[in-house]
Amino acid sequence: MANRRDGSLMRNNGQSLRGLRIAAAISIGVLLGCVFAFLYPHGFFAANLQTTSSSLPSKTGSVACDSSEKVNLLKSEIVALSEKNIELKKQVRDLTEKLRLAQQRNGLAQQQVVVLGKQHKAGPFGTVKSLRTNPTVLPDESVNPRLAKILEEVAIGKELIVALANSNVRGMLEVWFNSIKRVGITNYLVVALDDATETFCKSNDVPVYKRDPDKDVDSIGRMGGNHAVSGLKFRILREFLQLGYGVLLSDVDIIYLQNPFDYLYRDSDVESMTDGHNNMTAYGYNHVFDEPSMGWARYAHTMRIWVYNSGFFFIRPTVPAIELLDRVADRLAKQNVWDQAAFNEELYFPSHPGYTGLHASKRTMDFYLFMNSKVLFKTVRKDSRLKNLKPVIVHLNYHPDKLPRMIAVVEFYANGKKDALDPFPDGSQ
Ligand SMILES: *[C@@H]1O[C@H](CO)[C@@H](O)[C@H](O)[C@H]1NC(C)=O
Repeated sequence: MANRRDGSLMRNNGQSLRGLRIAAAISIGVLLGCVFAFLYPHGFFAANLQTTSSSLPSKTGSVACDSSEKVNLLKSEIVALSEKNIELKKQVRDLTEKLRLAQQRNGLAQQQVVVLGKQHKAGPFGTVKSLRTNPTVLPDESVNPRLAKILEEVAIGKELIVALANSNVRGMLEVWFNSIKRVGITNYLVVALDDATETFCKSNDVPVYKRDPDKDVDSIGRMGGNHAVSGLKFRILREFLQLGYGVLLSDVDIIYLQNPFDYLYRDSDVESMTDGHNNMTAYGYNHVFDEPSMGWARYAHTMRIWVYNSGFFFIRPTVPAIELLDRVADRLAKQNVWDQAAFNEELYFPSHPGYTGLHASKRTMDFYLFMNSKVLFKTVRKDSRLKNLKPVIVHLNYHPDKLPRMIAVVEFYANGKKDALDPFPDGSQ
C-alpha cells in the first residue's frame, strides 16, 4: 500500500521540489517504521484489528488517495507513526468513522442498513432469509382527516375492502355488495365517484365515501370509462395507505363467497390475484424460445408469468407499495398505457440502464381460491372434484357479459343451483 500512495503523490504534484520533500518525509517514515517494527514486532494495529471490521483499514487507504488534501493527512499519518500507540488507534478510529459516513452517502445498500438498523453477520447455510415483510408507514391523518374518521369506523385490524364505482356500474355494484353482505363482511367501503352512487350506497346501508369535489381528478371519475377510472384508483388508494391501512382493492365485477381476510398471507407489499389459469401460468415457468438458425444455441430460456390482475389485490401500507402506486399513477398520466400493464411492469421489470426498478415484494394468490372467470368456465365447472371447492371470490374479468355471469356464480355457489353456470360458453362469442 505504501507504494500505491507514493505513485499517486508523485502524479498529483509535478514540482520536483515538493516531491523531494515528500520523498524525504516518506523515507523518514519508512525508517521510523523499520525501527518500530524492530521494537514492536506485533505491530501497533494488532489490538485494533480485532475490534474493527477487517475490510475497513484497506479501504481507508484508497479513500485517502482521492485528493491532494489527503496528502497532508497521509503526511501527518507518517509523523504520527513516531507518536504513542494510543494516538494511532484514535486516528484509525476517526478514519474508519469518516469512511463509514462516506460509504453511507454512496450506495442504496448502505442506506438500507441505516433504515433497517444494525448490520448483521450472515447466518449459516439455509438459515438466511431476506426481508419481504416491509415495515408499515407511520399513519398520517393530516392527509385526509375526513377519510381517516370513516376508516376508523369501517376497517377491522386496519384493513378493508375498497371499490371505486360510478353510476355506469350500478347493476354490478349491487350484486357485488350483496355478495359481501351475505358472507358477513363489514370492513368494506365504496368510493363513490358521483352523487348518484353515493345516494345509492347510503340507501342500501353500504359504507360509502365521496371524495371532496375540489379534487381535479374527480372529473375522470364522473365521466370516464373503465380504464380512466382504473387510473384514478391508484391516486385514491395512496391516501388509504398514507393513513396506515392495508387495502384489498376490488373491482365490482367480483362475487364474494368467503371472507378474503381469512386467506391473506400479509407477508408482501402486494398480494394479488392472477390472470393465470394453472400452476405454470399463475406461478411462473421456464418458456424455451427456439431459434433454429442459431444451431447449437437454438434454445433460449425465458421466464414467464401471467400478469397480476390489477382489479383485485391486497396492498400493505409500506413505502414500496406507495411507490408502486405513484409509479403507476405517474405513467398513466403521461402515457397511453393500460393500468394493468403498468402495474405489472413496475412490479416486475428489473433495474437496467436508464431505469431503476421497484423493489416491492409480491405474492400470487391461490388461483382456485381467488378465481378468475377463465378458470371457472374453462376448467372448474367441468371438473367433478374442482367444482365442489368453494372459492373465496370469483372475478368475472375474462368475460364481457359480466352481470349475468355474476348472478349465475351466486346461484351456483351460494344458492346451490347446480346447473346455473351451464348456459354460458367458455369464452365470449
Ligand atoms: C399445482 O400446485 C399445487 C401446489 O403447489 C400442487 O398440489 C398440485 O399438484 C399442482 N398441480 C398440478 C397439476 O401440477
